[in-house]
Amino acid sequence: MKRPSVATIVILLGLLGVAGGWRHLATAKSPAGAEQVIRLTAKKFEYTPNEITLKKGVPVVLEITSLDRDHGFKVPELGVRADVKPGETTRVRIVPDRTGRFEFRCDVFCGSGHEDMAGEIVVVE
Ligand code: CUA
Repeated sequence: MKRPSVATIVILLGLLGVAGGWRHLATAKSPAGAEQVIRLTAKKFEYTPNEITLKKGVPVVLEITSLDRDHGFKVPELGVRADVKPGETTRVRIVPDRTGRFEFRCDVFCGSGHEDMAGEIVVVE
């Protein structure tokens, strides 16, 4: 049985890369094939970091863990909401489709500072 040569495969992969992935990967600054991951921690009554800068149109995955108790993670303007629990990693995928500043906040009552538990996603061009 005749199999495609290594050179043919390399050329085909190259064409696919030029057509599809390379520009995207270059702007996302991530390893080949993976989306950028940003880790956040939540605890009474703050997120770390509490400001995240994203690029419009570039998908990211937020990995959020709690250091103490149940919290929430809600970004109303981006249609995102998730529970954040100790011992678990909550993954939230975001593809920001417009620039601006979008507040995220805790929406699970977690104590006297709950109302102030918030941060901002900044989406730039
Ligand atoms: Cu954390 Cu409410």
